Amino acid sequence: AADMRGNYIARRIMPVVDFPKPGITFRDITPALQDPRALRNSIDLFAERYDNMGLTQVVAIEARGFIFSAALADRLGIGLTLIRKAGKLPREVYSTSYTLEYGDDILELHKDSLKARDKVIIMDDMLATGGTMTAAVELVRNSPATIVETAFVCELLHLGGRKEMDRIGVNSYAICA
Ligand code: PRP
Repeated sequence: AADMRGNYIARRIMPVVDFPKPGITFRDITPALQDPRALRNSIDLFAERYDNMGLTQVVAIEARGFIFSAALADRLGIGLTLIRKAGKLPREVYSTSYTLEYGDDILELHKDSLKARDKVIIMDDMLATGGTMTAAVELVRNSPATIVETAFVCELLHLGGRKEMDRIGVNSYAICA
């Protein structure tokens, strides 16, 4: 549900044509981060939904997902679990490769980071094709944790990412142009 606060955020996410490659339109969230009201709104919307849900961790996707996830985890008084790109996590990891609009990449999660008692959301800034979040869900499913849903600040409708998210809920607050 995109309320007025979602629209306020969406208006501050800037499309950049032909970046990083011809044919790709990049969505730049830096103006939304710089606007104190947009930044506050984005965390408020998530905090309202996830307060009292019994979440134990916010699982965050590198890199832009980290920004919102860290603020939300602090607001909810719960922990932050990092999913990182290849080679960044120092201990034993689950690993999965995925395809992005502009190339292939690998995501990793420490094997011992989530336990059976954990009830989590997985968070990112943007849902585009859904490739990144599908890989993240696969990673977390290696662990015994319960995934409540996936959460995004912003969603691009025309790439059909929501359909990719097989039987996992998608929550987003802003529709990006
Ligand atoms: C962007 C964005 C999401 C993903 C969305 O990340 O932050 O993670 O792409 O696209 P998808 O739904 O098609 O997978 P990017 O890989 O550019 O990395 P960054 O956050 O590290 O900048």
